[in-house]
Amino acid sequence: MRTFVRHYIVPLARRRGWISICEIGARTGTSTDYLLKLPTTSHTIIDPCIDDDLQAKYSADSRVRVVRSNSLDALADNGRIEPGTVFDSILIDGDHNWYTVYNELRLIDERGLLRPGGFVFLHDVDWPYARRDLYYQPDTIPAQFRHPFAQKGMIRGQRGLAESGGLNEELMNALEEGGPRNGVLTAIEEFLALHPGKYRFFRIRYQWGLGVLELRGARGPGIGLWALRAKALVHSPLWRLGQRVKAGMRAARRLGQGSGSAG
Ligand SMILES: C[S@@+](CC[C@H](N)C(=O)[O-])C[C@H]1O[C@@H](n2cnc3c(N)ncnc32)[C@H](O)[C@@H]1O
Repeated sequence: MRTFVRHYIVPLARRRGWISICEIGARTGTSTDYLLKLPTTSHTIIDPCIDDDLQAKYSADSRVRVVRSNSLDALADNGRIEPGTVFDSILIDGDHNWYTVYNELRLIDERGLLRPGGFVFLHDVDWPYARRDLYYQPDTIPAQFRHPFAQKGMIRGQRGLAESGGLNEELMNALEEGGPRNGVLTAIEEFLALHPGKYRFFRIRYQWGLGVLELRGARGPGIGLWALRAKALVHSPLWRLGQRVKAGMRAARRLGQGSGSAG
């Protein structure tokens, strides 16, 4: 998410003069630190703080409010997100499963938490979590919406999980990729289908993918979505090239280590 925050979200926020941001899923605050370079007046973090004590980290910044909670509990609660709250932008990078993302969008929409012309950014809308659920906290997902899962990794092009290795093998991933109510992109599509014409949506398809959702309404300064699309056209191939170079270097290192130990 940090790459997207730095190259897309922060420049757009500056152009549009955003002052109020909500970040769902902040981990150790890497993206937060970039966002706080903006002249915002209010930055709300919603995160159960599994990895870091974000309340302690940002206690000296009066703009930051940390709601230590799961997103769905916080977004539904008038005590924690007061009626009348409206954000210029909301970043969603919390629990990457259909149930959570669909209901995050539903609550944001029902409660009017995004101002017209505002943006929601969603990380992980491409492989591996576009069409496969991840559960940071499986117990918080109602059983009827939770797919069978295992702490095993994923291999691109393989519907089931890897027997060993693979991407994110330390996380709880759904056993199967695809099918109904599975994955982040599936959740967004289902949400959009219920609100035809209300939002504009597109995906930036590298680094696990960024979904960009604009609530139609008041036009902000600049060309917004088109500027992001144009930037993505340039950045995507560069990022892919960088990944290939890194993979090549890793392979060369492994080869070097192998021949060293054999000798
Ligand atoms: C992928 S990390 C976020 C990374 C962060 N956006 C960044 O750019 O560094 C996912 C975060 O989501 C948080 N999380 C997990 N389940 C959540 C939920 N139900 N609601 C909100 N946050 C959640 C975890 O605590 C973790 O900090």
